[in-house]
Amino acid sequence: MRNTIVAGNWKMNASKDAVKSLVNGILSGMGDVSAEVLVCAPFPYLSQVETLISGSSLMLGAQNLNVNVSGAFTGEVSAEMIKDFGAKHVIVGHSERRSLYGETSEIVAKKTKAAIDSGLTPLLCIGESLDQRESGNTEAVISEQLTTVVRLTGIEAFKNIIIAYEPVWAIGTGMTATPEQAQAVHMFIRNLLASSNQDIAEKTPILYGGSMNAGNALELISCPDIDGGLIGGAALKAEDFLQICKAG
Ligand code: 13P
Repeated sequence: MRNTIVAGNWKMNASKDAVKSLVNGILSGMGDVSAEVLVCAPFPYLSQVETLISGSSLMLGAQNLNVNVSGAFTGEVSAEMIKDFGAKHVIVGHSERRSLYGETSEIVAKKTKAAIDSGLTPLLCIGESLDQRESGNTEAVISEQLTTVVRLTGIEAFKNIIIAYEPVWAIGTGMTATPEQAQAVHMFIRNLLASSNQDIAEKTPILYGGSMNAGNALELISCPDIDGGLIGGAALKAEDFLQICKAG
C-alpha cells in the first residue's frame, strides 16, 4: 500500500504576505487531510515556510538544486543549504528546467543523485511534449528520461525517490490528461521500474502533474497507479489546494 502524496509547486510565485496567508490557510485545513502534503517554495522563502510549518505535518521542499556540495558556483544553491531550512524534498527535472534551462536527462540524473546523497527526497519529473505524444513517442521519451537516472543512481535509490509524471502539454494549459491517459503512462513507468526490481516498483510513489485541480483530482488519484499529485496553479490558493489534499 502506497501513501498518497500531494505536493504544491509554487514555481516563481511568492511574496512574504502571500506565503504567510497561503501556508496559514493550508495549515488551518490540514486536520481533515490524511495524505502526505508538502509545498515546494522558491529559495528565498524556505526560511519563512520553515517557521510557519513548525510543529505541523506540512512538509517543505525546494524546486531545484546544484549538484555540488559547496564552492564557487555564483547564484547556485546546494542540497545542504536546502536541508538547512528543514526541507526534506526537492523537485528535479521539471519540464520548465529541461526546456528553459537546458537540463538534459544526464544533468537531471546528477541532480537526483546529489539530492539522494544528501538525504533529500527528489521529486523526479518526467513527461513528454505534445509533439512527442502525437508522434507516438511518449513511451520512448519516458523511458529515456527514467533509465538515464536509473543508470546513474541504481534502482535501489528509488526507495527514496518520488516520480512525478507531468505531460508537458498538460502543464498550465488546463488540458489535463484523462485518467485513462495518465494511468496508462503511470503503469508504463511502474512496469519499467519492475523490470529492474519488482518490489521497488510497487513501493515507488508516482504522482501526476498537469492542470490537476479540485475538480479532477479525485478521479485521477483514484487510478491504481496514480499515488497523488504535483500541483502548480491550484497550489497557490489554500482552498483549492486543500480540496486536492482531501481528494488524496
Ligand atoms: P499546473 O498544475 O499549473 O498545470 O502545473 C503543474 C506543474 O508543473 C507542477 O510541477
